[in-house]
Amino acid sequence: MHLTDTPAWQKLLQHQQNISSLHIRDVFADDPGRADKFSIKLDDFYIDYSKHRVTTETLQLLFALADQSELKKQIGELISGSKVNVSEQRAALHTALRSPDNNTDISKLVHNELSYMEQFVNKLHAGEVKGYSGKSIDTLINIGIGGSDLGPRMTCEALKDVKTSEIKFHFVANIDANEINSALSASDPETTLFIVSSKSFGTEETLTNAKTARQWLIEHSCNDPAKHFIAITANVPAAEEYGIPPENIFKIWDWVGGRYSVWSAIGLPVAASIGMDNFRKFLAGAHAMDEHFKNAPITKNIPAILGLLDIWYINFFNAETLAVIPYDQSLQILPAYLSQLIMESNGKNVDQSGRPVEYKTGAIIWGNVGTNAQHTFIQLLHQGTHLIPVDLLVGLKNRKGQQEHQDILVANCIAQGEALMTGNSDKQGYKMIKGNKPSTTIMYEQLSPYTLGMLLAMYEHRTFVQAAIWNINPFDQWGVELGKKISASIKNELQEQRTDTTYDSSTTNLINYYLNRKNN
Ligand code: F6P
Repeated sequence: MHLTDTPAWQKLLQHQQNISSLHIRDVFADDPGRADKFSIKLDDFYIDYSKHRVTTETLQLLFALADQSELKKQIGELISGSKVNVSEQRAALHTALRSPDNNTDISKLVHNELSYMEQFVNKLHAGEVKGYSGKSIDTLINIGIGGSDLGPRMTCEALKDVKTSEIKFHFVANIDANEINSALSASDPETTLFIVSSKSFGTEETLTNAKTARQWLIEHSCNDPAKHFIAITANVPAAEEYGIPPENIFKIWDWVGGRYSVWSAIGLPVAASIGMDNFRKFLAGAHAMDEHFKNAPITKNIPAILGLLDIWYINFFNAETLAVIPYDQSLQILPAYLSQLIMESNGKNVDQSGRPVEYKTGAIIWGNVGTNAQHTFIQLLHQGTHLIPVDLLVGLKNRKGQQEHQDILVANCIAQGEALMTGNSDKQGYKMIKGNKPSTTIMYEQLSPYTLGMLLAMYEHRTFVQAAIWNINPFDQWGVELGKKISASIKNELQEQRTDTTYDSSTTNLINYYLNRKNN
């Protein structure tokens, strides 16, 4: 039976028609205790999902959809290592990366690699990792893209207040040479170590940037470039063939998805920045969320509730995007990180058996920090024509006790949720703000390694909940291959200064235009 024909789906369709004109403002008026009912406290987090276009009945129908989709069983399969990545016949065991258990073959691999990371980080912090001229390494340049960049880049940025080392960090992802040029110009070849971070060790941008890094070292009289490279990969033979010494290779595994890999050795820059103890706290926070996700009943399960609310808007209100607005400057890269996590996971149009789906799947994830958002795009959220559910996140404490700043920041975050929901009393005209715009407010004491670990794991599992209901595979990404293939053939044409006539006239014109400009 197609999902859209199932009883739970049909009941939600009918229910949506019954409550589509309901205004959240009115349900609050009818039920003063609503906020307490529709919020959850877990460790550092207070999550308020009361400002949504739902009633108690809505949630019951969404929970029924979860039951019908055997969500708890699917959660168990994910965490126990079933081959949930059906198209690649692999497990997706990012939860094993942060589990304290050390009694299975998988967990022994994980803990051995964590120990190897710890040895490296301790040597690095002790100044015992030396370059070709004998000077201690003081700069790490991570060369990687997608999940081999965004996880460490975002996490290092988010946790820079708990940085324990003087090591300097740069992240190079883009093939646009401007990015590596600015990293190299700020670095000393004698004291710089490159981390080539690539699960496949076959990503063109990463290998090209690594080659440029190697040339830079040699141009600066480095007589032993190998000393300045470490690799993090699931493809050890390719890294060795590239010339990375075996002792400089950190392993990840094919059951770690790129966008789920910050918990693995891909997170080495994070450990080097905040120290291994804090990195283990980061892992512990994620593990705490895993335990909650595995054990909490769906009705009290944060990732399940938020994932089901996503389904409610995407499939029953035709929402196309989700906005993430962290009122926390250290989370400025979080929207970009979540865009890969959620869009690369759930941007799919066939189900697990390869059949086309007849319903919308992954939403477009976008956003920026607040309060900046209020001076850039918030207008559309208040008076635009789109329904865009919003995640509002805010830490309550400022590390330096700058209470005036924190009061204003928190006031704005709370106010936006209120304004989006209530609107104003104007009934028409250009000042009218209708309200009824849904948001979730996620509060936490202060961003710590543990808190961030919980938060990222919550989004990973929320993504999985969506996929479980849609019966799609969140762990493959076949859609990225075509662009890479076409790019490879166009690159050859550009480098050989010829034009393959098999392309459409637009592509052909663009190639010729570039070739003409390139030569003048
Ligand atoms: O092309 C998409 C992708 O495979 C992402 O899933 C991945 O995070 C990124 O490219 C980098 O891949 P790798 O770590 O193998 O270089």
